[in-house]
Amino acid sequence: MATKKTILFLGATGGVGLSALRRSLAAGHTCIALCRTPANLTAQLNTTTTSNSNTTTLPPNLHIITGNAHNPSDLHACLTHPSTAPSGGVDIIVSSIGARPTLRGMSDAHVCEKGMEVLLGALRAVKEERVGGKVPRLVAVSSTGISEVARDVPILLAGLYKVLLHTPHVDKKKMERLVVAAGGKGEVEWTLVRGSFYTSGSATEGLVRVGVEDPVKGVREKEAVGYTISREDVGKWMFEECLDKEGREWVGKAAILTY
Ligand SMILES: NC(=O)c1ccc[n+]([C@@H]2O[C@H](COP(=O)([O-])OP(=O)(O)OC[C@H]3O[C@@H](n4cnc5c(N)ncnc54)[C@H](OP(=O)(O)O)[C@@H]3O)[C@@H](O)[C@H]2O)c1
Repeated sequence: MATKKTILFLGATGGVGLSALRRSLAAGHTCIALCRTPANLTAQLNTTTTSNSNTTTLPPNLHIITGNAHNPSDLHACLTHPSTAPSGGVDIIVSSIGARPTLRGMSDAHVCEKGMEVLLGALRAVKEERVGGKVPRLVAVSSTGISEVARDVPILLAGLYKVLLHTPHVDKKKMERLVVAAGGKGEVEWTLVRGSFYTSGSATEGLVRVGVEDPVKGVREKEAVGYTISREDVGKWMFEECLDKEGREWVGKAAILTY
């Protein structure tokens, strides 16, 4: 039986984070979700509303904290939440925050870079409080199309990606560099998750192909080039490979997920 963990979710109202959160809750892990608007999360969770009142029953292993992933004190509140006490600190952090396209460009061109800076700063601030100097796992959702090692998007899409996704890709690259640098200092044990173009489809069985890259050594260990993957499947893969089991084979790797 998998050990129960304490997992912090940043970006749980988005499709990938929600898919991983739902599965983690069902598996009995203690989950903390930092949300700017908690109602965006509760509305999407399978909750029951009693007929006589408007109260919503949330899973007992879910702790929602209202706040912004760019605010150090909100991150501190998550990392020191009373529910983390039994495991001596958060075991795993899943960061899947992202910006949305608007008529004037992305809603926040630096959302991932800034979020990672703040998260890593908050982790440094609580380092001494972590039981036995335990190093937290960090699963950071990034993107295909940004590898400096080898192409991971189909040749037909490569040009389009460069033009249309330039801004979010610069942001993701900066985020990845922060993650890898923190790993180099022994502050986190990281995995980067690079999905291809997202769809809103359901999770599948046996259809996901997984490529592997070692960004530190600059080596592509396994190829997987494809067009799309559903958010549900990205979250499912993260849950199964990085959250529910130890998943040590993914530490220090970028996983490329596609159909
Ligand atoms: N679209 C694609 O094809 C594609 C492909 C590969 C990778 N990606 C990346 O994969 C990641 C996950 O995507 P997704 O579709 O699951 O999510 P999404 O729909 O882009 O949602 C982003 C999430 O980030 C949260 N967020 C943004 N800024 C925040 C802040 N300052 N503080 C707290 N929360 C914040 C949002 O919360 P609110 O509810 O408060 O808005 C939401 O939960 C994103 O980084 C995305 O860019 C996308």
